[in-house]
Amino acid sequence: MTNKNLLVANWKMNLGPSKSAQLARDLRELANGLKKTEIWVAPSPVCLPAVLEQVKGSGVRSGAQNVHWAATGAFTGEVSVPMLQELSADFAITGHSERRHQFGETNELVVKRSLGALSQGLGVIHCIGEKLDERERGETNAVLARQLEPLFAEARADSFGNLVIAYEPVWAIGTGKVASVEEIREAHAFISGILGKYGAAACPVLYGGSVTPENYAGIIALDLVNGALVGGASLTLEGMRKLAEISEG
Ligand code: 13P
Repeated sequence: MTNKNLLVANWKMNLGPSKSAQLARDLRELANGLKKTEIWVAPSPVCLPAVLEQVKGSGVRSGAQNVHWAATGAFTGEVSVPMLQELSADFAITGHSERRHQFGETNELVVKRSLGALSQGLGVIHCIGEKLDERERGETNAVLARQLEPLFAEARADSFGNLVIAYEPVWAIGTGKVASVEEIREAHAFISGILGKYGAAACPVLYGGSVTPENYAGIIALDLVNGALVGGASLTLEGMRKLAEISEG
């Protein structure tokens, strides 16, 4: 996929079409000066056309925050891979913890989304992560394995080049409670072991959860961290500029 550090902005349900387009234009300029970092943006689906228009022909990639596995059909509220491809979107996020835990998306459903998107040639950022009670019970690795194994067991090896994994501990998302560097190192080492088992060691693995310019240097310095999936701090050019500077080293 890429050897560069990924800096992925997940704008969630923020920024309308005109603000998204403006920030995308600014990020395109920011990306021009970067050597070691790629910027990806996931706006709301209604803002995706405006964002893609701004980043067309640049190094900035843009995609959706979720995607359905079927090409068409009676699935109210969903977005398909061909729809995204018609817009030239590059990827979709799947399994974000807000989808899993606020909207009840099961692990089976998330895996179906990822497999469907990969089989149709779309890039996927497959999100995984444990809840606080699971971590406290010592179940972190079991949760991560449960969220990864069914995907790798079924995905075709020739789709691995389109796959990014994002480790986002649920308790660190939007809470200001970033995981410690040691917690991130341990989780990424465990994930790396699973990827290795399936011949997917080249898939980038991102960290997400309260990433800010204040804590990112220690995180991106970790060998097995290939970038970040950023919510709150990705909503301003200033936030993204500072994170990009840290990523450039
Ligand atoms: P925050 O950076 O706002 O904690 O959100 C992280 C996240 O969920 C990115 O997908």
